[in-house]
Amino acid sequence: MNRRRAAFVVSVILGFLVCGEAPLAKMTNAVCKSYNKSWVVVHYCRLKAYSRTKTSLNINATFIEPAKNIYLHMKMMKKANGYKPFLFDYTFDACEFMRRRNQPFAKIVWNMIKNVSTVNHTCPYEGLQMLSDFHHIDVPVPLPSGDYLLLLDWIFDFKPQFATNVYFTFVEGM
Ligand SMILES: *[C@@H]1O[C@H](CO)[C@@H](O)[C@H](O)[C@H]1NC(C)=O
Ligand SMILES: *[C@@H]1O[C@H](CO)[C@@H](O)[C@H](O)[C@H]1NC(C)=O
Ligand SMILES: *[C@@H]1O[C@H](CO)[C@@H](O)[C@H](O)[C@H]1NC(C)=O
Ligand SMILES: *[C@@H]1O[C@H](CO)[C@@H](O)[C@H](O)[C@H]1NC(C)=O
Repeated sequence: MNRRRAAFVVSVILGFLVCGEAPLAKMTNAVCKSYNKSWVVVHYCRLKAYSRTKTSLNINATFIEPAKNIYLHMKMMKKANGYKPFLFDYTFDACEFMRRRNQPFAKIVWNMIKNVSTVNHTCPYEGLQMLSDFHHIDVPVPLPSGDYLLLLDWIFDFKPQFATNVYFTFVEGM
């Protein structure tokens, strides 16, 4: 190998080490709110910073009454002069999903949170619900770099009861 070529190889390797190939996804804010405090009380909904590129999400909420009929409205937004709808906006039966795993976008979210949450069972849900130290973000679809907002509205008995909204930044692999 001649010297120029070696220098080229070294710079490529350094490039990989510095930039990395992996895309970067980082949660930047989390906002939860209850619309009906006689059904859902949110105790805790916060990001913890691990490093400049990594945060983890903790949510702790109590369902005072059992929730037997649950729909989830999932809406993705991407920032471009304010947040605009992006990729998906749909509502589905969450109780059916927990029995059949039949929603592709919900399944992506589910696969990321299933081992760090208390929701791994079928309806009804009652009492303390938690998402603990969620930080393993794995987006299996290509996303353009940018700022995103995932809006999750939880609907019990056909009425919105609470929201868990997560802001994140995505930087494509180089
Ligand atoms: C609020 O929660 C209570 C207690 O579960 C329930 O009876 C009531 O229907 C809910 N109100 C709305 C508007 O959903
Ligand atoms: C959930 O939050 C409440 C209120 O902050 C706290 O009292 C409780 O200990 C928390 N539960 C767990 C298991 O973290
Ligand atoms: C979820 O629960 C099912 C049934 O109890 C179990 O087989 C599965 O391993 C659990 N998954 C996770 C990720 O905990
Ligand atoms: C959950 O699964 C992810 C990926 O499989 C893993 O990196 C993470 O450590 C797991 N978390 C827990 C709490 O088991």
